[in-house]
Amino acid sequence: MSAQEANEIIEDQVRTLLAQMTLEEKVGQMTQIDFSVISVENGQDAENPIDPAKLENAIFNHHVGSILNTPTTPNNKAQPIQKWRHMTQTIRELAAKTRLKIPVIYGIDAIHGATYTQNSVLFPQAISMAATFNTELSFKTGEITAREVKASGLDWNFSPVMDIGRQPLWPRLWETYGEDVHLSSALGSAFIQGHQGDDFAQADKAPTCLKHYVGYSYPLNGKDRSPAWIGERALREYFLPSFAAGVKAGAPTVMINSAEVDGIPGHANYQYLTTILRGEMGFKGFTVSDWEDIIRLYTRDKMAASPRQAVKIAVMAGVDMSMVPFDFSFYDLLLDLAKTGEVPMSRIDEAVSRILRVKYQSGLFDRTEPALAVEGNFVTDEAVAVNRQAAREAIVLAKNDRQILPLSKQASILVTGPTANLLSVMNGGWTITWQGSKEELYPQDKLTLLKAIQQKTSGKVTYVGGKNFSDEINIEQAVNAARQHDVVVLALGEKPYTETEGNIESLNLDPLQLQLARAIFEIGKPVVLITFGGRPRIITEIADKAQAVVLGFLPGMEGGSAMADILFGDVNPSGKLPISYPRQTNDVVPYDHKPLEAYEGNQYRPLYPFAHGLSYTSFATNGLRLSTDQIELGESIDVTVNVKNTGARTGKEAVLVYLHDAAASVTRPVKQLKAFKKVELAPGQEQSLQFTLTPQDMSLIGIDMQRVVEAGEFKVMVGHETAEFKVVKH
Ligand code: NOJ
Repeated sequence: MSAQEANEIIEDQVRTLLAQMTLEEKVGQMTQIDFSVISVENGQDAENPIDPAKLENAIFNHHVGSILNTPTTPNNKAQPIQKWRHMTQTIRELAAKTRLKIPVIYGIDAIHGATYTQNSVLFPQAISMAATFNTELSFKTGEITAREVKASGLDWNFSPVMDIGRQPLWPRLWETYGEDVHLSSALGSAFIQGHQGDDFAQADKAPTCLKHYVGYSYPLNGKDRSPAWIGERALREYFLPSFAAGVKAGAPTVMINSAEVDGIPGHANYQYLTTILRGEMGFKGFTVSDWEDIIRLYTRDKMAASPRQAVKIAVMAGVDMSMVPFDFSFYDLLLDLAKTGEVPMSRIDEAVSRILRVKYQSGLFDRTEPALAVEGNFVTDEAVAVNRQAAREAIVLAKNDRQILPLSKQASILVTGPTANLLSVMNGGWTITWQGSKEELYPQDKLTLLKAIQQKTSGKVTYVGGKNFSDEINIEQAVNAARQHDVVVLALGEKPYTETEGNIESLNLDPLQLQLARAIFEIGKPVVLITFGGRPRIITEIADKAQAVVLGFLPGMEGGSAMADILFGDVNPSGKLPISYPRQTNDVVPYDHKPLEAYEGNQYRPLYPFAHGLSYTSFATNGLRLSTDQIELGESIDVTVNVKNTGARTGKEAVLVYLHDAAASVTRPVKQLKAFKKVELAPGQEQSLQFTLTPQDMSLIGIDMQRVVEAGEFKVMVGHETAEFKVVKH
């Protein structure tokens, strides 16, 4: 059957089903509730967390279309896979007993693997996946995540985050693929393709959800859920393209920005949710609100005069499903609004059709049992190996003076610092629990940095540090111990967090960590500085003094092992920064800045620039050439370049192609990443790489807010070489 035939069948099914539905059943489809609404008390610890009477009330009396989350807010935590299968099966069976047998779609935040299924494979977080510059790995993590989600009996993943990370204070920076539009689009699209395959009705595939549409990631003050002021040109240039790429990659659902842009809350923005998302991007799936965000148009934003008006505003702006999530107020209010005609039936039918379409596309109507066997699909050796590889490629070697790294396996090492002996600091939020901070729930068999170092080396390893992140480290003891060892591994950074709980006032490193670092530097031993955490905290002073700096960000459950692999040279690092690492807390300038941000007194002078990352070997690119030096408007151009391993070790290198528009009617960034490829090369090996730059790559948002290519000169940049071409208009 062709894809078109399959679509026609689904459209037919949707129409037929919709025609049989009552208004109540329709409004129910648009309602999503949190697990706590159907849970027994303390469901997170109960053997059978579902309260049958509550579930019946949700499904029979309120016809809910969707349930989300793990048992049970606010103390929620990961559950054993068999329990998940049982819980979701209970829901499935009850839905199958309703008049029209419409399945409930169960949604979960599986943002770096199946977060809420115990012992699942938890990958590097998005910021670290971006550091791999490896779309193949992103594809594989998508595949594995979908498999583990489906083996858990779950249906739908609230991932990937397609927000662009250009505000480093924002406590969800690490959930993004970094500051660059092309990198984020490429990594996110690959993840979606792996997660969904060609047909996400397949047993081991599942629908994804692009979030948080749009502008959520750029709060002016850096705090979560606070206003962004993004002009239309910047929106179109920096924040919409990754969502457009996700739509193109086939993501059938979109979650909405919890905050506001230019004075309009995400959930009230008709222009974004309908005109642009549907009209321009051609999105056909459904939108889901974020947590409680419809009622917040009333309680928080004071945009609506009542909860009822809030529902009307949101639904009419283009919200198809409401993550209510704690009660049935949305259901009651929308029912009333529909009965009085304030929300027209056509709008309800439209939203419900979109939801039903995705349910059909996901194969939910055909499924009576948990989709996928656990055996062979959950924590497979292959999945663990992919995770290990991802972690290895995610770690960024930022500095390596006098080749202090790799360390000898006989060296005697003092390991100290608050991130040296915890798994949570390498995983971040959305790990086992929402905040990811319950270290006691982490799998015992995974290695912290300290344990991984101890396993690798026959040299003496001493640890000075606490059990928890906030335990004060005895500085005197650390300094004395440092004197007794060849080298100090100093592990600093952040504790895990997400959303509002991760708000900070400054990017500066915690003063206690600085104190520890200063005291250690005082005695002059070589120091390898390692950081874990979701944001680039300011390390300039200590990075200058350290012999080596290794930026771990959030490399996931295999992060400790991967870091030790790199420290001792069993793995050659290949990660590159997906963000510019600021030198000072207010010096936040992205690599693709405007010319005037690096003009006269202004400079792009980060501690480490975007795409910075060292290797134990060296690479050189040469022979940059273009297929022609002149093209016509609307044509593409090919770029060829050679990359050679000029050092003594096999290694991987991501080759990056940047473009600059020499003159345009709107100011252009000094350069923009347009393509990249990662290759592995043996010493002396050389490879020729080909790229194509399309009209889209040469385009800009013109004076009238339309995407255009303007005739003129362009410069292609790879490594130290540049090549020019002209676009002419005939
Ligand atoms: C709120 C978060 O903003 C969003 O990312 C998440 O998917 C939902 N809660 C559901 O947990």
